[in-house]
Amino acid sequence: MNDVRSFFQKQFGTIPLRIVQAPGRLELLGNHTDYNEGLVMSLAIDKYIYMASSPRNDGQIELTSSAFAERDTFYIDKIEKNPRTPWANYVKGVLLQLRQRGVRFSGFNAAIHGTIPLGAGLSSSAALEMATALTIRELFPFTLTEFGTALPPARTGNELPPLKSAEKILLAKIGQAAESQFVGANVGLLDQISSLFGKAGQVIQIDCRHQTVTHNPMVPGVAVVVCNSGVKHDLSAGEYNELRSHCESAARTLGVKALRSINPQQLEASKAKLSQRDYECAYHVVGENQRVVFGERALLDGDVSQFGEYLFQSHASSRDYFKNSIPELDALVDIARRHPACYGARLTGGGFGGATINLVKAEGTWDFQQFLAKEYQVRTGLATEPWTCSIVDGAR
Ligand code: GLA
Repeated sequence: MNDVRSFFQKQFGTIPLRIVQAPGRLELLGNHTDYNEGLVMSLAIDKYIYMASSPRNDGQIELTSSAFAERDTFYIDKIEKNPRTPWANYVKGVLLQLRQRGVRFSGFNAAIHGTIPLGAGLSSSAALEMATALTIRELFPFTLTEFGTALPPARTGNELPPLKSAEKILLAKIGQAAESQFVGANVGLLDQISSLFGKAGQVIQIDCRHQTVTHNPMVPGVAVVVCNSGVKHDLSAGEYNELRSHCESAARTLGVKALRSINPQQLEASKAKLSQRDYECAYHVVGENQRVVFGERALLDGDVSQFGEYLFQSHASSRDYFKNSIPELDALVDIARRHPACYGARLTGGGFGGATINLVKAEGTWDFQQFLAKEYQVRTGLATEPWTCSIVDGAR
């Protein structure tokens, strides 16, 4: 928070009026299930995008980010892509979506500072989208409804009332629409929902068909270790959209709206109707949905070993069926599995790079992190610094 305040001050020469923060997320279990109307478990983690802002009265928006050299300045009635500042597209996409739903805003300055590593699959983009939506709400208060906008919320002192769940879902959808319509990645709702619905110490469970969110406590004594493979992934790269089309094509062939409707027996019975690739993708998604259901049971029973097994199974399914893993991620999971303190490990997020999530016996964490870094260097020649994260509250 203090970093973004002083960054804003340096950039604009004044103190910001508002500061918001939106956390990154870790996908715990349920890979590529979200856009298949499936089930997913995630965690909001203590890495954030912060946005400091103040209104201005010349109808311009000026954005600056501590991660990029170039600023972007544009008029509110001319929100367009600038090839020199692709990072600003996440902000602009959200502004356009808000406007389409009847939210009115005028000019402002905003400074962005983040601690979420970029390209690590921890959803810095969704956090930026949600920080943008909250910034607009702070500067130009609005209430979103299914049908547009309603009377804006009133401040008590300096504080707006917290967002209700239904409005959070609408904001998440705005982020998703910004990403698919403006940025070009046809993503699901996992990242935005996780950033908004985070709860300290709790696992977020999302049912993407019914768009409902519940929470369960994380089992005590388990550390969540993140390990960045160092291979950057970019969702606007074609692979993500391609995987999504295979899933949708499989659902069409099977005569259902989304793969959520299919169980493993039905999939096997119809295997011959599907192309090899559609089948492999469907196999992964159907299996992931099952693992989330069983995973929830295991977590509620406090059976971390069983839960960890589901993580390993999920990774194997990514590697062998969905094919969204890469050798570096496979190496990380393989090394993790050989450490006695590790319950489970898998790639997290879109795949093709980014990070792994590891559940580790709390007292063995330090040793586990050293082991992972050392062995990864030996196997791949790449350096990595695994870290333990905390599970935090959502954006505010
Ligand atoms: C990315 C997308 C999400 C989700 C995951 C895979 O993070 O943004 O919507 O599809 O990949 O589960």
